[in-house]
Amino acid sequence: MASQKPETIVKATAEDAAAAAAELIKAVVRESVAERGRCHLALAGGTTPHLLYKMLARGVVTGDVPWQDVEVFFSDERDVPPDHIESNYGMIQRALLDNLPVPPNHIHPMPADWLNLDAAAEEYERAIRALVPSDGMLPRFDLILLGLGTDGHTASLFPHTAALTEVRRLVLSQYVPFLGRKRMTFTFPLINAARHVVMLATGEDKTGPVADLLGPHGRHREELPAARVNPTDGRFTIILDEAAARRISN
Ligand code: 6PG
Repeated sequence: MASQKPETIVKATAEDAAAAAAELIKAVVRESVAERGRCHLALAGGTTPHLLYKMLARGVVTGDVPWQDVEVFFSDERDVPPDHIESNYGMIQRALLDNLPVPPNHIHPMPADWLNLDAAAEEYERAIRALVPSDGMLPRFDLILLGLGTDGHTASLFPHTAALTEVRRLVLSQYVPFLGRKRMTFTFPLINAARHVVMLATGEDKTGPVADLLGPHGRHREELPAARVNPTDGRFTIILDEAAARRISN
């Protein structure tokens, strides 16, 4: 459970929140490449970060960001092929990666269309262990971007599912009963090993889960998957717009 308070940034609009997240990601890329020669980034799916990805893509012309030294991973995925409309990879490819000079062999989609999704999750975990520098125990992403679901899920870590308490595996596939589908997801040991975790949540439908996560009277906090984000030796930044932050006092 989170014990350290996350740094919370509240911006007036969803556009401003996306712009703040874009600036933060660019700063982390510059810093990581300057310090370690590479930046290992894990991106989030869902609808909220679409605007952020478009902004990052637009900034390419003017921005001074060493994208060629970035390795891109994905923090969760739906059980569909990459060109499927629901694919997180597909969305991120179209909105962002098609427009960035990231070398194609630096982009690592989750193989979520394998028939055996458990084997696919094991393969993705192997790739992460091979490519992302570790502290001796766990691979440490320079930045993991996450979203927040209306039920408090983050990545594909849903309430009351076994994946929440996983301690050994870094990537898992699991059947999510209320979706009636399988998802592949980073687990909390991998998320919490990151140098920086950034959660972006905007809009009215996030007011409730944000209040549960951060507000003084958060309900069912112990049941909220997002409350388990608590980097062991890293930063945790939550970026919100005013609509999402309406029921927390900052
Ligand atoms: C996904 C996700 C998921 C998402 C939240 C929020 O594949 O759907 O990665 O964790 O971030 O469900 O989704 P929205 O941004 O669409 O509200």
